[in-house]
Amino acid sequence: MVFNNLSLVNFRNFNTAEVEFNKRLNIIIGDNGQGKTNILEALYLLTEGESFRYSKNENLIKIGTSTALIRGSVNNDDMNYKLSLKITESKKELLVNDKPLSHTKLRRISSVLFSPESLNIIKESAEERRALADQLVEQTTLGGHTLLTDYKKVLKTRNRLLKDISEEKINFSMGKDTLDSLNPSFLKLAAELTFLRISTLNEIRPEVEKAINNIHFSNSVKFDFKYIISDLDHRDSDLEKIVFFLQKRMQELESAELKSGVSLVGPQKHDISFLYNGNDSRFYCSQGQQRSIILAYKMAQIVYHYRVHGFYPFLLLDDVLSELDLTKQESLISTLNQTETQTFVSSTDVSLLSKLSMDKASVFKIRDGQISQ
Ligand SMILES: Nc1ncnc2c1ncn2[C@@H]1O[C@H](COP(=O)(O)OP(=O)(O)O)[C@@H](O)[C@H]1O
Ligand SMILES: [Mg+2]
Repeated sequence: MVFNNLSLVNFRNFNTAEVEFNKRLNIIIGDNGQGKTNILEALYLLTEGESFRYSKNENLIKIGTSTALIRGSVNNDDMNYKLSLKITESKKELLVNDKPLSHTKLRRISSVLFSPESLNIIKESAEERRALADQLVEQTTLGGHTLLTDYKKVLKTRNRLLKDISEEKINFSMGKDTLDSLNPSFLKLAAELTFLRISTLNEIRPEVEKAINNIHFSNSVKFDFKYIISDLDHRDSDLEKIVFFLQKRMQELESAELKSGVSLVGPQKHDISFLYNGNDSRFYCSQGQQRSIILAYKMAQIVYHYRVHGFYPFLLLDDVLSELDLTKQESLISTLNQTETQTFVSSTDVSLLSKLSMDKASVFKIRDGQISQ
């Protein structure tokens, strides 16, 4: 898959910008605060439909203007996709080949981001780890994106209802009836999402283990995920079992949910541990080892995407190479050279250029929202 070009209008600190990309490696160099991450964010928005900075629409639009426009063209085999995303304060509108299209049909165009924030995922809140699993589900399973969208919708409805009941905004028995009629579809989607998370994590587990051992020049590190959901061991889980356990938990926690006004059962509550030689890396591993695990996870994500779809996702490396020690840098660069993933690397460090194979790369210099080559 190849991102041919990108054009920006009133996006973040860019007035207008046009870039033609290299098919393999694109290096974006500039001082802090010049717009490097903004370019990667634009690529991510076009391919993933959302920002990786949890930004509101208004933050994406250049201050003093009202509409941002991101356009790009992507080739995959002999298919060409003309993507255009218009952002106003109230909405984002995506056009593919001039037709409105939800991201549902586009899930095969995807990006994998690796940033300094990614390196802390093992230590951060469970929400970040759930997002990691959800992205895998969206990018590599049929219907995964629709399932996530539907689940988020029903969860929102259910939470609003529980809140109304707990605040006595609606009659209790009427509220309870509505809840009872909502629960089967909530349970079904909750169980399906949990099942897909667990099964895709199990699918990439061997790839992650291989990548960790590559980084450490070893073959003895054992890696596994532990999906944390009360009462259930993920290793022997199947969909029926998950439905059974979630249902049991929903019954146990019903009065607590009615009192607290929020859903206490479901994938929005689950967590994922990364087991390094059987130990929870959050408490057991050094910071360096934790970084290796996440780096390995991202590499595995790329390889697994290829196995599922037959082509690579785009790889966005935001200011991350200088955060890695030499062995990790070398391991990452060698993976880049072995795979054919089109890569976008940003850095403040010009000396980085000599480490990357320059014959295959284009270099862009960014200064105050201006791009030069
Ligand atoms: N909505 C916006 N309008 C105008 N400028 C913005 C907006 N959002 C961010 N910026 C500017 O973008 C710059 C940050 O760009 P960024 O890509 O994060 O920098 P870096 O090159 O360090 O990655 C800052 O100068 C910031 O003020
Ligand atoms: Mg940046």
